[in-house]
Amino acid sequence: MISLIVAHDEKRAIGKDGWMPWNLPQDLAHFKRVTLNHAILMGKVTFEAMKKPLPKRHTYVATRNSDYVYAHEAVTIVHDLDSFLKQWKDKEECLYVCGGANIYEQALPYVDEMWISLVYGEHEADTFFPAYNQEDFIVVSKEELQDFMIIHYRRKK
Ligand SMILES: NC(=O)c1ccc[n+]([C@@H]2O[C@H](COP(=O)([O-])OP(=O)(O)OC[C@H]3O[C@@H](n4cnc5c(N)ncnc54)[C@H](OP(=O)(O)O)[C@@H]3O)[C@@H](O)[C@H]2O)c1
Repeated sequence: MISLIVAHDEKRAIGKDGWMPWNLPQDLAHFKRVTLNHAILMGKVTFEAMKKPLPKRHTYVATRNSDYVYAHEAVTIVHDLDSFLKQWKDKEECLYVCGGANIYEQALPYVDEMWISLVYGEHEADTFFPAYNQEDFIVVSKEELQDFMIIHYRRKK
């Protein structure tokens, strides 16, 4: 099973200068709650921006660079992203796709569910979440917080 977790604003902005365009501790707490003790996937740009792997999660890092090495027991490098996603889709264990834009775009056709933090307003940004058709998904739950709303989508069968 493949899940995706993202915070995007009303124009689907997700990033600015290599980081998020906002500071939302409640969203970071939500991200931690959902992904803790699970496998997570991210692109090399997002991974390197974090400085170190997130604790209590196994991180799969996508790069096309066959020389890239990151020696850590909780990190696995992925070169063939498409095959990796195809193989993971049949597993019972959930993989959480954690960005950035490049990886979200390629993973979107494979995802069974999405956790979207819809950040209110529009922000200056240089990186955007891909367009998606809400009709392809059902809303499992919605939680309204002060600066954003958490929407849990599941893909229609
Ligand atoms: N708001 C949010 O929830 C959220 C979440 C995550 C990230 N972000 C933001 O997103 C931005 C970064 O996104 P990004 O799109 O620039 O970078 P990214 O998706 O994190 O990483 C892109 C890299 O992934 C590797 N890659 C891409 N396609 C691949 C494939 N098919 N096979 C193997 N490797 C592949 C490439 O690495 P190589 O160049 O090494 O080959 C590519 O340069 C930042 O601003 C970050 O803060 C926001």
